Amino acid sequence: MRQYKALINNELVDNGQWLEIMNPATLEIAGKVSALTPDDINKAFSVARSSQEQWEQVELLKRISILKRFRDLIDQNKEEIAQIMSEEIAKNLKESLAEVERTVEIIDYTFEEAKRIEPMALTGEGMGAKNKLGVFSRVAKGVILAISPFNYPFNLAFAKIIPALVMGNTVVFKPATAGSLVGAYMSELVIKAELPKGIFNIITGRGREIGDIITSNPEIDMISFTGSVGIGNQIRKNGSTTDLVLELGGKDPALVLDDLNLDKYCDEIINGAFGYSGQRCTAVKRVLVNNEIADKLVPLLKNKIESLSVGMPKDNAFITPVIDEKSADFIQSLIDDAKQKGANIVTGDKREKNLMWPTLIDNVSLDMKVAWEEPFGPILPIIRIDTIDEMVKIANDSQFGLQASIFCQDISKAILTAKRIKTGTVNINSRPQRGPDSFPFLGIKDSGEGVQGIRESLLSMTRYMGLVINY
Ligand code: NAP
Ligand code: G3H
Repeated sequence: MRQYKALINNELVDNGQWLEIMNPATLEIAGKVSALTPDDINKAFSVARSSQEQWEQVELLKRISILKRFRDLIDQNKEEIAQIMSEEIAKNLKESLAEVERTVEIIDYTFEEAKRIEPMALTGEGMGAKNKLGVFSRVAKGVILAISPFNYPFNLAFAKIIPALVMGNTVVFKPATAGSLVGAYMSELVIKAELPKGIFNIITGRGREIGDIITSNPEIDMISFTGSVGIGNQIRKNGSTTDLVLELGGKDPALVLDDLNLDKYCDEIINGAFGYSGQRCTAVKRVLVNNEIADKLVPLLKNKIESLSVGMPKDNAFITPVIDEKSADFIQSLIDDAKQKGANIVTGDKREKNLMWPTLIDNVSLDMKVAWEEPFGPILPIIRIDTIDEMVKIANDSQFGLQASIFCQDISKAILTAKRIKTGTVNINSRPQRGPDSFPFLGIKDSGEGVQGIRESLLSMTRYMGLVINY
C-alpha cells in the first residue's frame, strides 16, 4: 500500500497519525498520508514565515534554477505520478499523464513569464507634484496558502505553487483528500531537489477537520483556493483579512444557434460534458437549443454518447467511476428529480455503485434541479428554448458565471450573443475550457473571485512596492 508523509521545513512528518485514501475504481484503500494536528499546521506556517525573507532575497534567475531541479524531477517521474493520481481519483491513465505533462509545460512557461514581470517607471508631474521619479516593482506577498480540489490534483496545485515560489513567496499547500497521495508524494521530490528549507510545505488531512484551522492561521498573506462554492464561501469568512483568489463551481451553458456544423458541435459538447466523467468545473452542464435544431442534435448526441467506453481508469475508459458513492447518489438524485418531473432520459441512467453511465436528458424544464445545479458527473441536460433572448436569460439566471459556449457559424451573431452572457469567458465554437493556461481564467458571481492563468497568478501573488525618488 502506498504511504506518503507530509512535509514541514523539508522534514517528513512522522506524528503516527494517518488518513486513508480510497481508490474510487476498486473502492479499496489506495494508500495513506499523514493526518496533521493543529500543532503541525502551525509549525508549517511558522517555518513558511521565517524562511520567506531569505527566499525572496535570492535573485529571480537563481530562484528559477533552484525550482528547475524540482521541475526536472517531476518530468522524470511523470509516469509514476500519473499512476498514483489515477489510483486515487479514477482519472484514466492517459488523461492523468496528460495532466502531469501539461503541468510541466505550465511550470516552464511560468519561469519564462516571471522574467517579464518588469517594474514600471513613472515621472511624477502635475497634480501638485514635480521632479519625482517613481519605480513600482512587483514584490512577493509573503506566505501563500494553496488549496487544491480533487479533480486536477496535480495541475491545479502547481498552477498555484510555482508562481508563488518563483516570485519569492513561501507556500503551505493543502491538497484535497482525494489527491493527497500525489500531493504528499511531492514531499520526497522536494527533499531530493534540495529546495531551501521551509519554502514549500505540504500539509495533509481532512478538510472538514483541519480546514478552519488552516485558513484562519494569522501568518497567511494570501489564499489561492480552487474547489466548491460552499467551501469557498467558508474561506471568504475565515480568510477575510487576507488576499483571496477563489476558483469555484460552474454551470456552463452551451448555446447552439445553428445546425451548420452539428457533427463538430456534438463532438465538442460531448467532450465538454463527459470528459473525466463530467468532473470538471468547465464541463458543459446544460445545452440551450431551439426545438428544430434539438430534433437533429439529440439523436446525434445519443449515438456518439452510446459509443463512449465506460469502465476502469487502468483500461483508459472514457467514463470512469465518479469520486465516491456520495457523489454518485447526488448525481442520481438529479436524474431522478428530472425523470419524476417529466424529462425524457434519452440514454444512460444506469449505475453500478459509483460508476455511472453517461446520461442524456431531453426536455428539461426550468423547475428541475438539473437545470440549475452543478452535478459534477456524467449527465447532460437539454433545455429546449425558442429564442436567443430566452437562451441568454436562462444562461444568465444562474448563480454561476464561469464559462459558456456558443455554437454558430455566423461570427457576428456569435460575438453579439457572447457579449450578452455574464460569465468569465465565452468560447465560440468550442467547449468551455481553462486552457491554454497562459490565458486569464476567471469566474464571476458564485464561480469565483480574482483571476488565475500564468501571468495573472504571477501578478496576484505579488504586490506593488513603490520607490519614489525626489530630485
Ligand atoms: P471541495 O470539496 O470544495 O474541496 C476543495 C478543497 O478544499 C479540498 O482540498 C478540500 O479538502 C478543502 N476543504 C474542505 N473543507 C475545507 C475547509 N473548511 N476549509 C478549507 N479547505 C477545505 O471541492 P472538490 O470536491 O475537491 O472539487 C469539486 C468542486 O471544485 C466543484 O464545485 C468544481 O466546479 C470546483 N472546481 C472549480 C475549478 C475552477 O477553476 N473554477 C476547478 C476545479 C474544480 P478535503 O478534500 O480534505 O475535504
Ligand atoms: O475543473 C476545472 C478545471 O479548471 C478545468 O480545466 O478546462 O482544462 O479541464 P480544463
